[in-house]
Amino acid sequence: MDWVLGSSLVGFVVAVFYPVVRYIFPPASAESVVNTVTLPFPVSELPSGSGRIFRFGDRPGIAVRTASGEVRAFSARCTHLDCTVQFRDDLGLIWCACHNGQFDLSGRNIAGPPPRPLDAYDVRLRGDQIIVTRPS
Ligand code: FES
Repeated sequence: MDWVLGSSLVGFVVAVFYPVVRYIFPPASAESVVNTVTLPFPVSELPSGSGRIFRFGDRPGIAVRTASGEVRAFSARCTHLDCTVQFRDDLGLIWCACHNGQFDLSGRNIAGPPPRPLDAYDVRLRGDQIIVTRPS
């Protein structure tokens, strides 16, 4: 009887603390290195004067299309404190909600606390596909 109660207690302790320990010390995972992605939306779904978020490996990226139709892509990680930026239709620029940082469609920091421009990616069009590459 002691053995049954003892093993139940050990099972209970493991069931409670194992998830806590895994939360505090997550397993090490190698950062995926992605240098090129084909965006999951075609150029035709990126109208002039708009922007969309996409995945660049395990990081967010943002593609914008200027009023003249040029497609540009940047890291969507704000250069202030790494919040994810977004495209603001009403302002016509890239905006960070965390501290009201603003970037123009060339990725330059134009207002708020971001200390430098967004990291720019190279963009190539193949038909209607948008191919984004990390510069070497
Ligand atoms: S994290 Fe973007 S403005 Fe602060």
